[in-house]
Amino acid sequence: NDNSLAYSVGVTLDRFIKKKQDDFPFASGELSQLLRDIALAAKIVNRETNRAGLANIGGAFGQTNVQGEEQQKLDVIANIRFTRALTKGGEVCAIVSEEDDEVIDLQNNSGKYVVAIDPLDGSSNIDVNISIGTIFSIYRRVTPVGSPIQLDDIMQPGRQQVAAGYVLYGSSTMLVYTTGCGVNGFTYEQSLGEFFLSHPDMKAPSSGNIYSINEGISNSFSEGLAKYIAHCKSKNYSARYIGSLVADFHRNLLKGGIYIYPETKKNPSGKLRLLYEANALAYIAEQAGAEANDGVQRILDIQPTSLHQRTPLYIGSKVMVNEALEFISKKS
Ligand code: AHG
Ligand code: MN
Ligand code: MN
Ligand code: MN
Repeated sequence: NDNSLAYSVGVTLDRFIKKKQDDFPFASGELSQLLRDIALAAKIVNRETNRAGLANIGGAFGQTNVQGEEQQKLDVIANIRFTRALTKGGEVCAIVSEEDDEVIDLQNNSGKYVVAIDPLDGSSNIDVNISIGTIFSIYRRVTPVGSPIQLDDIMQPGRQQVAAGYVLYGSSTMLVYTTGCGVNGFTYEQSLGEFFLSHPDMKAPSSGNIYSINEGISNSFSEGLAKYIAHCKSKNYSARYIGSLVADFHRNLLKGGIYIYPETKKNPSGKLRLLYEANALAYIAEQAGAEANDGVQRILDIQPTSLHQRTPLYIGSKVMVNEALEFISKKS
């Protein structure tokens, strides 16, 4: 099939990026270089994820992050690897990371790009060998290159993204990203150290029969949401929720489905973070013909007001997202 063809003709990530850059005569190659820097860090984190149990880098790091979560060693290691790769790459002036309280100013004001990153998503799954991921968003800085970074460079709505992607450290390791012209998926070939194009031009099914939500918090669900979940059950949909947003999102993107993380008593604005979880996956979703909403508005239209702000998230096949929104907006 054409996937093996892609492997055999060797459409590597590098070649793909180069080809895309050639399609844009004005492309300066800086975004291309940034994507390569991210892919390099992904290869390093992939190796460390695969060895976690052997290299005593599993388990808790012993500190709590700004989210109030107990950092895992791999959270910290992944954060260091991506930050170092982006610093060395020279294309980035600032990083927003789940694992850092404040903006990381790379003291590189000539860098044109700002990156928001969840270095390791699904940390609770590291020690039990279930898929985890990395999520990233890329923005162009809005203040003049060469000047110190400003808050305006950081607090950009998701629709301003120039690129977004995720790495899925799963049964195979994949890099999936968009630069605004569709979504492409690359599978990592460990023995060659290369990502090969395996999922060209990914498109989400417009509907599906998979719903992903933590039903353990259903006591917090609004009446409308409870009705939507009951509706899914009446239709005999499959419940699939593994606690790693990247993995749940990727499966639903390929097969059709909806992932919901609503407001709860514990997290009145939802649990997922806007800048480095919801925005990146929302951009990918829309580029693949799917949708992402916070229950009231398009995720990409939310004007951020704080670095680690959370948002409710309804994301996946557009028919399912719109149906869920119908249920939750209906006055009971
Ligand atoms: P992270 O590990 O980056 O903090 O993200 C965890 C998120 C997301 O990956 C997952 O879907 C969700 O938390 C699971 O939350 P619950 O355990 O509350 O269901
Ligand atoms: Mn976390
Ligand atoms: Mn996460
Ligand atoms: Mn994380």
